[in-house]
Amino acid sequence: MRIVKLLLYGLFPCLLWSCEKEGTDQQYVEVPEGFALSAGTATNFLTSSKAYDFEASWLSGIYSSRFNDGDGLYDDVRTSSNQDGGLGPVYAGYSCGSCHRNAGRTKPTLWSEGGSGNYGFSSMLVYITRKNGAFFQNYGRVLHDQAIYGVKPEGKLSVKYDYQTFEFPDGETYELCKPTYTITEWYADSIRPEDLFCSVRIPLRHVGMGQMMALDQKEIEALAAKSNYPEYGISGRCNYISERGVTRLGLSGNKAQHADLTVELGFSSDMGVTNSRYPEEICEGQIQMDQGSMMGLSYDQLDVSTEDMEDVDLYMHCLGVPARRNVNDPQVQKGEQKFYEAKCHLCHVTTLHTKVRGATLLNGTELPWLGNQTIHPYSDFLLHDMGSEIMGVGLNDNYVSGLARGNEWRTTPLWGIGLQEVVNGHTYFLHDGRARNLVEAIMWHGGEAEASKNLFKRMSKEDRDALIAFLNSL
Ligand code: HEC
Ligand code: HEC
Repeated sequence: MRIVKLLLYGLFPCLLWSCEKEGTDQQYVEVPEGFALSAGTATNFLTSSKAYDFEASWLSGIYSSRFNDGDGLYDDVRTSSNQDGGLGPVYAGYSCGSCHRNAGRTKPTLWSEGGSGNYGFSSMLVYITRKNGAFFQNYGRVLHDQAIYGVKPEGKLSVKYDYQTFEFPDGETYELCKPTYTITEWYADSIRPEDLFCSVRIPLRHVGMGQMMALDQKEIEALAAKSNYPEYGISGRCNYISERGVTRLGLSGNKAQHADLTVELGFSSDMGVTNSRYPEEICEGQIQMDQGSMMGLSYDQLDVSTEDMEDVDLYMHCLGVPARRNVNDPQVQKGEQKFYEAKCHLCHVTTLHTKVRGATLLNGTELPWLGNQTIHPYSDFLLHDMGSEIMGVGLNDNYVSGLARGNEWRTTPLWGIGLQEVVNGHTYFLHDGRARNLVEAIMWHGGEAEASKNLFKRMSKEDRDALIAFLNSL
C-alpha cells in the first residue's frame, strides 16, 4: 500500500457518507497500488477491443449460457424474413450490435460519409418532432433511414459542418465543429424545415449497464436534492418516466429518458422487430406500408420472443466493467487532482452505490449479484443544462424527452471512456459525436458546466494534458 492522493475511493463507503454529511469534497486515503476497481467483482481486466463485451466473473452455470445466447441475439444480423428476425420494413440498424459494435459505440458515418451515408447504414438515431412537440403521422418518432428491399427509407440525414477556431489563454488553439442537420429524400410528404426539430444521437457505450439499473434511486434523488452548488451554478434534476401506471426514475439514454435497458423498444423502434411489448410494426398506418402489405409482407407473427429479449437484457446487465489503467502513472495521478480542481466530479460523480436487491430483468429474474456494490461510474445520472449559447447554439437540440428540456442532458458516465478508441476505433464524443476528441468534448460544455469548463480552459497545457491522461485511464 502506498499513499495516493485521491478522492475517497469507495473502499470505505460508510466513511464516505459521513464525510459527505460534513460537506467535505476531497479526502485523501490509501488505495491499493496497481488499479482501481470500477465495479467491484464485476470489474474485468481486458484492454482489447473486447473490453466492454466481456462477462462479469460472477456469472456461472445457466446464467453463463443465457449470457451467450443474449450476446448472440444482440449481434445477430437480422433480415426481413420472419425466420431471420423480421427486420424492417423500415429500420435504423440491423442488430443491436450494428450500432453498439463490441457493446460500444459504432463509428458514426456522420463524419466519414456526411450523415446517413451513401452505402451501409448510419448507426445513429435521428429523432424528429414538430416544433410543437407532436410526432408526424407518416414518420413517427425516429427517422428510419434504412429499409428492406423494395421499400423506401423514410428519409436520409445530411449534415453541414461549421468550423471555428478558439484559443486557450496560453495560446494553444482548438477547433469546434458545429453540425447543422437537414433531412432529404423524405419518402412521403416532405416536412418543411420550419416545422421540424431533429435531434441526432450516436450510440452510447454499454459500460456498466447492469450497475446503472441497480442504482439506488434514493441516492440519485438525494444528489438531485443536494447537488446545488450555487458557487458553480450546478444543480442536477431527475427525469421520471410514467408508463403503464408506474412512475420510475429515468437513468438510461442521453436525456435519462428510459427507466430500463430499452430491449423491447430497441427491437421495435430501431429495427422494426415486433415483440410482445410492441406488437405493431413501427410503420403501421404509414402510407408506404399499406402498399408494403400489398406486396405480400406478412406481419402476423411476433419477430422476437419475450424469452429471447430477456436473454438480451441479461447479457447487457451482466457485462463487466473495464478496470482503470495506469493508475500509478504520475501524470494520471496529477490529472485526477485536476479533475477535482476543475469540479468535473460535481456532475461526473465518482462513487455511487447499488441497491441491496440488485437488478431485475424483463420477466422478473433477479440478479442479486448486482446488489450492494460500490461503483465508480463518473456520473450522477442527472440532467443538467448544458448551454444554449456557444457559437449560437450550445448543446441545445430543442428536443424534449419526458421532463428533459432541449438544453438538458444526462451526465454521460465516463467509466471505460479511455478504451473507446481501442473498442470502436474512433474518438467521437457527446450525444451526436460532434466532439472529435476529449478536449473538444470538454470545450463544448456550457450552461451549468461553464464554470467547470473555464477552470479547465485556464489550466496550463501540462495540467490539461494530465487531465486528459486521467480520462484515458478510466
Ligand atoms: C440504429 C442504431 C441502434 C440500434 C440498432 C440499437 N441502438 Fe441502442 N442506442 C443507440 C443510440 C443512438 C443510443 C442513444 C439514444 C439516446 O440517448 O437517445 C442508444 C442507447 C442505448 C442504451 C442506453 C445506454 C445508456 O448508457 O444509457 C441501451 C441500453 C441500448 N441502446 C440498448 C440497445 C439494444 C438492447 C438494442 C437492440 C435491441 C439496441 N440498443 C439497438 C443506437 C442503436
Ligand atoms: C454541469 C455538469 C457537468 C460538469 C461540471 C462537467 N460535465 Fe462532462 N458532461 C456533462 C453532460 C451532461 C455530458 C453529456 C453532454 C452531451 O452528450 O451532449 C457530459 C459529457 C462529457 C464527456 C463526453 C462523454 C462521451 O462519452 O461522449 C466528457 C469527456 C466529459 N463530459 C468530461 C468532463 C470533464 C473533464 C469535466 C470537467 C472539466 C466535465 N465533464 C464537467 C455534464 C458535466
